[in-house]
Amino acid sequence: MLHYQLNLDVASAIRSDFSFQQLIDEIENSDRPGNIWRFDADKIFNSEWCNDMLIKGLNFGSSLVFYRKAHYIHPTAHIDLSWSDLKPTVAAINWCIGKDTGDMIWYHGDTSVQQDKLLTPADTLYIERPIKELEEMHRYQIGSTPTLVRTDVFHNVEVRAQPRLCISARCRTIPVLSDLTWANTVDFFQPFFI
Ligand SMILES: [Fe+2]
Repeated sequence: MLHYQLNLDVASAIRSDFSFQQLIDEIENSDRPGNIWRFDADKIFNSEWCNDMLIKGLNFGSSLVFYRKAHYIHPTAHIDLSWSDLKPTVAAINWCIGKDTGDMIWYHGDTSVQQDKLLTPADTLYIERPIKELEEMHRYQIGSTPTLVRTDVFHNVEVRAQPRLCISARCRTIPVLSDLTWANTVDFFQPFFI
């Protein structure tokens, strides 16, 4: 499996003074097709919610926010890399704000090929490959349920009639980063699976 729905209440996760509209307006009033922002956990999440999650053993350190305009399909798939060891980021916890009519898509693709590392607008590292060179493996509509998604294989999102606003929360799991794999991340989150 490449994704697992999580039994986490995110209704009160976002700080009341955090404005998605400002981010949306920034892009909708530009000719850019979308953007990525990165926030430390305390800037985007309620401290009460973070504490509730900590009690459950979930230590959220930061979050990305993705926004793509309606009908935008980025021509490449990517793998996120960690700054600390340049290895692929294994997983994220994603959920959409508002209506999600898009699909997250995973692709087969050799991830061991050496290639240039690129920077997102949020200063995170990634590698990318044109989707026309990759074979689709699986697709899934995340919607508003927080979902553990695998991010160390090539992936992309197809946005359809609705623009897509997605939270991608990053949770520290295993303290020894070199031991981190999708398999032990799945084990860690197992108690929260729906
Ligand atoms: Fe990604």
